[in-house]
Formats: sequence, C-alpha cells, structure tokens
Amino acid sequence: MEKSQNTLPIGFFDSGVGGLSVLARFKKILPKENIIYFGDTVHLPYGNKTKEELIEYAKNILNFMKNKGVKAVVIACNTSSAQAYDTIKNLFSFPIYPIIQTCAKSVANSGISRIGVFATEATVKSGKYTEELKKCNPNIIVKEMASKNWVGIVEKNSKNLERDIKNIKTELEEMLSFKPEKIILGCTHYPFLMNEFEKYVSKDLFIDPSIIFADVIKQDLERNNLLNTSNSSAKEQFFVTSKPEDFVKNAEIFYKVQNQPILL
Ligand code: DGL
Repeated sequence: MEKSQNTLPIGFFDSGVGGLSVLARFKKILPKENIIYFGDTVHLPYGNKTKEELIEYAKNILNFMKNKGVKAVVIACNTSSAQAYDTIKNLFSFPIYPIIQTCAKSVANSGISRIGVFATEATVKSGKYTEELKKCNPNIIVKEMASKNWVGIVEKNSKNLERDIKNIKTELEEMLSFKPEKIILGCTHYPFLMNEFEKYVSKDLFIDPSIIFADVIKQDLERNNLLNTSNSSAKEQFFVTSKPEDFVKNAEIFYKVQNQPILL
C-alpha cells in the first residue's frame, strides 16, 4: 500500500455499542488512527440471528467500509467473527481482523488448561471459541455458555434492575461451578458489565480479548506498513442503522462519542 494510504481510516463494526470496548482499547495504543465505527443497531441483537443473516449484514457493512475507502476493518463483534468471517474473509482486498480468530492463539498458549467462555447464543452455537482454542492447545478444556440477555442489559443500561442483577449472578454462578481458571468475555458488550461481575469475583478471573486484539492488530498494521504516522488530529465518524440518540446515550458511560452518529 502506498504511503498516502496510511492516513485512511480503519473501520470497526458491531451490532451496537459493544465494539466500543474494542475501539477504546485500540485508541489507547493507536491514538493517531482515523476511525469509522458502524453500529448495526437495527439488527440488534446479533446473538439470535441465523448464519445467513449474519453473513448478509457483514457483507453489507464491509461494502460500506470499502466505499468509505478504509485501509482495514476490525470485526469488533464475536458473533460476526464466529458466523460470518469465514465466508467473507476473501471477498475484500483490505485486511479484515476478526476478534475470536485473532485472539485465540495467545489465550490458548497462556498456560491455562480449563477455560470458560461467556458469549452470545450464535457464537456458542458455532463452537468457534472451542475450535480456535483447541487448534493451538488440543488439551484445553473449554466450557462455552450463552448468557441470556446480557447484550440487552448493556444496550438498555438496565444492570441495576433487580431482574438483571439476578440474571448476571445466576449465570456467573453456573459458570463458576465449572471451576474455570479464566473466563473469556466472548462478546464485546460484556466488558461493560465488569463492575457487576466484580461484586462476586475478582476481575482477574476474566479475559477481555480486546486487550490482546488491539496489540495483535497494531503489530500487523506495523508489519504491513499501514500505521498512520501523520501528526494531524485523528478523526472519528460514527454510523448507525437506527436510533442514533440511544447509541450515544448507551455509550456515554464507556466511550465519549464526539460526533453525533449518522443514521443510515
Ligand atoms: N457484541 C457482539 C459480540 O461480540 C454482538 C452482540 C449481539 O448483538 O448479540 O458478539
């Protein structure tokens, strides 16, 4: 890629605000990058969609990103990485980084032998975490568990409702009975519930893959000479497919969305 292309934006997408947990981490280590964030809020939640639907959404978003002239796309969504990435990975000329496949190697090689994964129903159904972790460490024991409605709790910011407090506690207890050494937060919405998890267990028990993800992407962009080295201030643009006001409101405790999202 030519030098001038280094200043092109990097696209991020998710069903809603979840991918902001990845973007926040990414901006911490790569503050100079220009960003386009796509929240596919009209299709929320992705976790109960079929493979065919998820492939169609991913293709449309990647075409949108292509028209915007991105230099790379980050799939800041486990569900899309699990169900759509394999089908769409060769359809575009820019690098596409899926969260599960990019992070599994480093988790599998970290010496953990018993690991839990909280994810959406569609991610668990794909078995992608188990597949990718076992590819690197065949002896690792994995329990994948679909958490009911955690995405809804984050998107509606309803974690203080008694019903949702109970929901989080019950599902956490079920996972703890498996006695995992670590638990992967296999949905980008879940790190936003860390304060709730911490009421019952230490936060050290959890792996937020976005930390590994951002580091690996940085290394890859560096290797491909794609990092933005210009000194002009980085731009961020947000696009959503429904309810831009809700997106900003739900995001606000986690990420300062500077520009009003554009409704597509
Ligand atoms: N945040 C997404 C993920 O990582 C999608 C959640 C959803 O919309 O169900 O899987």
